[in-house]
Amino acid sequence: MSPENLYQEALIARKNAHAPYSQFLVGAALVTDKSDRIFSGCNIENLSFGATICAERTAIVKAISEFPGSKVKELALVTDAKNHDSPCGLCLQVMSEFCNAETPVHLCNLNGIQRTVFFKELMPFQFDNQLIDRQL
Ligand code: THU
Repeated sequence: MSPENLYQEALIARKNAHAPYSQFLVGAALVTDKSDRIFSGCNIENLSFGATICAERTAIVKAISEFPGSKVKELALVTDAKNHDSPCGLCLQVMSEFCNAETPVHLCNLNGIQRTVFFKELMPFQFDNQLIDRQL
């Protein structure tokens, strides 16, 4: 799977964005370790704004619900922003559950891939399971 393939799929997914409130259309596409398929998604907004689902989470939920236990191997994100430097904090938290530190994340706009970073660069510190297992 080339980054360019992922970018093209994210672009296609972006066309399905339901973004009547922000008019900010987002597409995402990813591959996992458990399937050859590309899973893509778009942002789906809601009149109750907090119920909005970002494109990254749409794609992740599609992938994990069909192939439980998968890890995201690579992900592309496309918007029409000049620089879209990072997914939102909620998406980073969800990504931290399914990405590895070295998962490449391609940040793209309508001109193509603008920047590729490892997931760990977007989220260098994570909420850790050990915090849950801690001795009180
Ligand atoms: N959004 C995404 O889908 N992904 C991002 O990385 C940033 C934000 C969506 C949420 C909302 O529908 C719109 O973009 C404006 O924030």
